Amino acid sequence: MSLAIRFDDIRKDFGPVRVLHGVSFDLAPGRIYGLLGENGAGKSTLMKILAGYETATSGTLLVDGNAQTFAGSRDAEAQGIVLIHQEFNFAEHLTIAQNMYLGHEKRRGWFVDDAAMRADAARYLAQVGLEKAPDTKVRELIVAEKQMVEIAKALSRRARLLIMDEPTATLTPAETERLFALMAKLKADGVTIVYISHKLDEVERITDEVIVMRDGRLAR
Ligand SMILES: Nc1ncnc2c1ncn2[C@@H]1O[C@H](COP(=O)(O)OP(=O)(O)O)[C@@H](O)[C@H]1O
Ligand SMILES: [Mg+2]
Repeated sequence: MSLAIRFDDIRKDFGPVRVLHGVSFDLAPGRIYGLLGENGAGKSTLMKILAGYETATSGTLLVDGNAQTFAGSRDAEAQGIVLIHQEFNFAEHLTIAQNMYLGHEKRRGWFVDDAAMRADAARYLAQVGLEKAPDTKVRELIVAEKQMVEIAKALSRRARLLIMDEPTATLTPAETERLFALMAKLKADGVTIVYISHKLDEVERITDEVIVMRDGRLAR
């Protein structure tokens, strides 16, 4: 269930521009980390490397002590690392359950097992505290609910490390409280969370440890 991460001297260039200048730190399992820093500090780029959306130009990413080079987000997902997108890529006309298992359909022999997917989806929706039927169309959900579905989907793929990039940007205070309660619950279940934000008050309240980046470097 646990997952230990080490960034060792990670650099990232986009063409001639270096945006990460050798970043090193560890993420211990089952903790909530706040990742802080001004726009352009390199927070999202570093987390995209961890989640398999970008590759480092040099340096090593270690997962449970093993050097990893992810060819894509599916590779990272196979290790339990999932980035929760802010621009959700749901098929709006499909149901919650269909979206959760899109491309990962459960099968029974040759047939797609809708009943099993709906039952599983209901279990994960209960885990994240979203009171919606798995048959609800995603287009009927508000943003905060879509975010819950994304988290439920990550859990259904056995996520052990969740990265949330500015998750409260579009949430009301009440929705934010609900997300924080869910984060505490996930932490109790042993999930590691990296929470990217530039709202210092929020970060201090809900995180165990804060990592600050500035101009592509660690600023601690
Ligand atoms: N795909 C890209 N191509 C070129 N430059 C990029 C790309 N993605 C990010 N950058 C640049 O890298 C720097 C760090 O960006 P980012 O990681 O998004 O920072 P943060 O998330 O801390 O705001 C910025 O200067 C940004 O313009
Ligand atoms: Mg960012």
